[in-house]
Amino acid sequence: MNDAESASSMRQQRLRIAIQKSGRLAEGSLDLLKRCGIDLETRTKDRLLTRCVDFPVDIMHVRDDDIPAYVSDGVCDLGIVGLNTLEESNLDTKKSILRRLGFGRCELALAVPKARAFLNLEELHHKKIATSYPKVLRRYLSEHGVEASVVELAGSVEIAPALGIADAICDLVSTGITLASNGLRKVLTILDSEAVLVGSVQRLNDCQGGILKVLLRRMDGVMTASHSKYVMMHAPESALEKIRSIMPGLENPTILPLAGGKVAIHAVAREQVFWETMESLKDVGASSILIVPIEKMIL
Ligand code: PRP
Ligand code: ZN
Repeated sequence: MNDAESASSMRQQRLRIAIQKSGRLAEGSLDLLKRCGIDLETRTKDRLLTRCVDFPVDIMHVRDDDIPAYVSDGVCDLGIVGLNTLEESNLDTKKSILRRLGFGRCELALAVPKARAFLNLEELHHKKIATSYPKVLRRYLSEHGVEASVVELAGSVEIAPALGIADAICDLVSTGITLASNGLRKVLTILDSEAVLVGSVQRLNDCQGGILKVLLRRMDGVMTASHSKYVMMHAPESALEKIRSIMPGLENPTILPLAGGKVAIHAVAREQVFWETMESLKDVGASSILIVPIEKMIL
């Protein structure tokens, strides 16, 4: 085998995942991979490809807008990308999404100058809307029977109304700071976005399919764990019923007898545990209540 052949056979036994090099999803993507056992701590900043040593994947660090095309062309097997970017691309959204990942939430929204009255979408009829998401915006307008002219801009969309080149904008909103500091206000949400895992699974060989299966199981484990907490408390045995009604998400608690008639309760809770919940537990007789985050989980 020559070098090219052995590189290609190596490629057949690994998965290549594209993630955003820098920006809104970069940190969340690295963090998710890390929690799946894919640690890229040693990578040097401008390397395009990081080879992971303890799991058969290679990570490609690229511009987010390029990820859908890399996945559809087979340059990468998987990608972590915002739903907003995916919807704007030519990759088939329904077929390519393997998981919604629950981080990098933001929305693609219509915004107008603060002083401008806005009651409904019809007011944008025959007006100009600036955006970097022409495909998603045009689809939305046509679904709602509004004819507006779409001004395509690659960036700095928020300054378009002040420059007089558009009456409204359609852009990503996360904290809302960009809109506020440009004298704009959000009027309609067009798309709720979050990071998604995409892939062209039909192209994978058996070996790569096996790696994907393990990776998906780990990702599911990380996501389930992040919605769950480990709960420990002491309580009189007679309070068990009440405790269950306060925390219906408590799963098969382990109950251990303590000296003095009380029991120790240990359980996974599939829910957020608020201060109010803990105070209600205290009210029915629980004490030493500990709520601990769960890092990983396989069911
Ligand atoms: C988006 C958008 C706004 C900003 C909104 O750009 O274009 O500029 O984020 O966020 P905020 O509501 O928290 O202020 P992004 O950072 O995604 O950069 P990009 O569009 O160049 O990828
Ligand atoms: Zn971008």
